[in-house]
Amino acid sequence: MNLQRLDKIIASQLNISRSDAKADIRRGFVGVDGELVRDPSRSFSPLECNITYKGQAVNFKEFIYLVLNKPKGVLSASTDNNRQTVVDLVPTELSRQNLSPVGRLDKDTTGLLLITDDGQFSHKVISPKSDIKKVYHVVLDGLIPKNACEEFAKGIVLADGTKCLPAKLEIKGEKEALVEIREGKYHQIKRMFGVLGLGVNELKRLSIGGFKLPEDLKEGECRELTEAELKSVLY
Ligand code: URA
Repeated sequence: MNLQRLDKIIASQLNISRSDAKADIRRGFVGVDGELVRDPSRSFSPLECNITYKGQAVNFKEFIYLVLNKPKGVLSASTDNNRQTVVDLVPTELSRQNLSPVGRLDKDTTGLLLITDDGQFSHKVISPKSDIKKVYHVVLDGLIPKNACEEFAKGIVLADGTKCLPAKLEIKGEKEALVEIREGKYHQIKRMFGVLGLGVNELKRLSIGGFKLPEDLKEGECRELTEAELKSVLY
């Protein structure tokens, strides 16, 4: 990994400002490979050295990958002047600069949302070219017509003429289904059902790739992905 200034490393890993990082380094709080380093401008390769802060090891991570069980009423954005965003729900100890949701869920949609500061990963997950499946549970305001599975499999043409990729519909009840899509157009699921004359009452994302919303993660809770979970997202 490239060399980085020590104040930058400390600021990113401890989620503190560059000026606080500089001050802490000058105070002698930071060690590198067993030596106190008081010069914030010195550069190190963070994966190849042992950095400590106040005597505790700093476990350097270039990027962070989080899963949130999104509740209703929260905006899929990093910041907003008035409204609560998904990034506001990230606990302080996991927070970093440049965190963003991986794609968007509507304000009234719940369930699995990934949050990261790794833009390339985000792009890979969202891009239809990556062919990563996203599964949603949906509750509709009317009966699902008999031809619905076939229409989804053919590829729904939205009201504005946009053609969706083939999708899987698995009927779970008269008004309830699982939907698997491999892209993420704006309001896609709602617009797909809209073509069949149905409104969506409840929408929850259950999985992305091979990664399922953890059962023990309550609405509003957020935690870091394990390495195995991270890999499973890109299956
Ligand atoms: N499709 C929608 O219509 N809304 C979402 O939040 C996600 C997929």
